[in-house]
Amino acid sequence: MKAALLPSPAHQAAPKPLLKWAGGKTQLLGEIIPKIPQNYSRYIEPFFGGGAVFFSLRPDKAIIADNNPELINLYQTVADDVDGVIAKLRQYENTEDSFYAVRAQDWTKLSCAEASARTIFLNKTCYNGLYRVNKSGGFNVPFGGYKNPKITDEVSLYAASALLRRSTIICGDYKRVLQENARQETLFFLTHLICQSQSTPISNDIPKNSSTKRIILSLPLR
Ligand SMILES: C[S@@+](CC[C@H](N)C(=O)[O-])C[C@H]1O[C@@H](n2cnc3c(N)ncnc32)[C@H](O)[C@@H]1O
Repeated sequence: MKAALLPSPAHQAAPKPLLKWAGGKTQLLGEIIPKIPQNYSRYIEPFFGGGAVFFSLRPDKAIIADNNPELINLYQTVADDVDGVIAKLRQYENTEDSFYAVRAQDWTKLSCAEASARTIFLNKTCYNGLYRVNKSGGFNVPFGGYKNPKITDEVSLYAASALLRRSTIICGDYKRVLQENARQETLFFLTHLICQSQSTPISNDIPKNSSTKRIILSLPLR
């Protein structure tokens, strides 16, 4: 793991989501956070997306997971090599030509830092911060044409990196994540599942012998 280069003040800033993400819970934090109990030993968020609740709670011990490998590459790389991501981000320009050239790249063929920077750059400069891919996995949201998007937010990246470094980051399906990690006194944040499938009993996905404390917040899908 490479150490971050910036001095301490940037590390002390409050971490916040690195991406705008469909279904993100930033607008609902005022409703969600007061409902979360104080006494849990671990936090698990298996539909992580932009991770608004995680970045607000800043748990000491967390498992964050998602089945989107591009997204998980971003979080793992910001944890392990935030300087590399920042260096790549600084090379981008908010022009239409640059946007479409970067969009045409296959992220799986790039280094981890380049792929992460690409994900952030496209999120900040595409239309409405949408994430949408075609059947072959190619990002297909058009250029946003915004005047001054903050492409390289170093303070947020360093703050997120410090928090992500103390978390376990998994790329995988929520069922595996729950089956392998459900233990006592774990707090789950599971809104995506509840919203997507109101009829799926969540307890089917958690081992029967686990006496896990479950907190399920049922919120409308946004
Ligand atoms: C609505 S977003 C989560 C929003 C997030 N909680 C927030 O506050 O920003 C849903 C996420 O679940 C992920 N996802 C969808 N199906 C999944 C599955 N079967 N297993 C794991 N993750 C999944 C998607 O990739 C997406 O990032």
